[in-house]
Amino acid sequence: MKLLDKLKNIEKTAMKEAVEAGSLDELEQFRIKYLGRKGVLSSAIKNMAHVAKKDKPKVGKFINELKQKITLLLDEKEKSFREEAKSLFEYDDTTLPGIVAELGHRHPLIRTMEDILDIFKKMSFKVVDSPEIETEFYNFEALNIPKNHPSRETFHTFYVEDGEFLLRSQTSTAQIRMMEKEKPPIQVVHAGKVYRPDAVDASHSFMFYQIEGFIVDEGIVFSDLKGVLEKFAREYFGQDVRMRFRPHYFPFTEPSAEVDISCFICGSKGCRVCSYKGWLEVLGAGMINPKVFEFVKYDSSKYTGFAFGMGVDRICMLKHGITDIRLFYENDVRFLKQF
Ligand code: DAH
Repeated sequence: MKLLDKLKNIEKTAMKEAVEAGSLDELEQFRIKYLGRKGVLSSAIKNMAHVAKKDKPKVGKFINELKQKITLLLDEKEKSFREEAKSLFEYDDTTLPGIVAELGHRHPLIRTMEDILDIFKKMSFKVVDSPEIETEFYNFEALNIPKNHPSRETFHTFYVEDGEFLLRSQTSTAQIRMMEKEKPPIQVVHAGKVYRPDAVDASHSFMFYQIEGFIVDEGIVFSDLKGVLEKFAREYFGQDVRMRFRPHYFPFTEPSAEVDISCFICGSKGCRVCSYKGWLEVLGAGMINPKVFEFVKYDSSKYTGFAFGMGVDRICMLKHGITDIRLFYENDVRFLKQF
């Protein structure tokens, strides 16, 4: 039984040393000392040869249990050392470089929209909202677009719910919505999405952004429209920009015009962006058609007004020299990061 007493002493010392081991290195040394090939327990097993036969099972069992105890203790301590080291690494090493949070920013189209709206806000326009899901009345009828107009056909407009509703194809709907709600004077801008079932290519998207603005009051004349748009063009595209109005037809304005600005890229000399014309078409505008006033029960002998509409995508493309509208909608961070 001498060996058993010896083993009990070994157990005591081992437990004490295990508690004292203060690092992974010390723990490894401890492991080698007790469990190693030439370690304390191995030589105890060798000494079993000298143990009396009847005592062998008892001593053998003791050695096995001690081995298990030591192994368990080692595993637990090692685990806790590793976790401690990990938590030190993760939270406490203030010398490590910080993790830089990726900051996003507004989408170039939203920025363009907000920049344009800001200019109109400075001119006392109120920003209003208007629905994207509309009825034929607001999108066409009240805007004096006749029943047989091609834009009302299903391949030019997204109809939903069996044609009871549609996804608006222009923000001019805001004119009717506002005039129904309020009496003149009205001076508002509205920005939002419009939808058209166009085949997607470099200059067409089934969804894009428009800004609509209009004023209705007594005594509003065409020169008011010119003044407002000129101010906008100079503020947005640069003080040297010139403007021209080309006669055009829109059902909801009379007279109507398409409005061009002098090409700010080549200074009107002619370049690829302006197709060597020196001018860039930026918006449609005109005096609100008295027929539209009839739909909202405004007295057209008392009130006049002007309206204008522009494509945000197009303006953003012109301003930044972007040649493919699809880039706005592909969510490619390499593109979006540049703004
Ligand atoms: N709604 C027209 C379009 O989508 C743009 C437009 C033209 C708006 C003339 C107007 C306007 O208010 O007067 O093409």
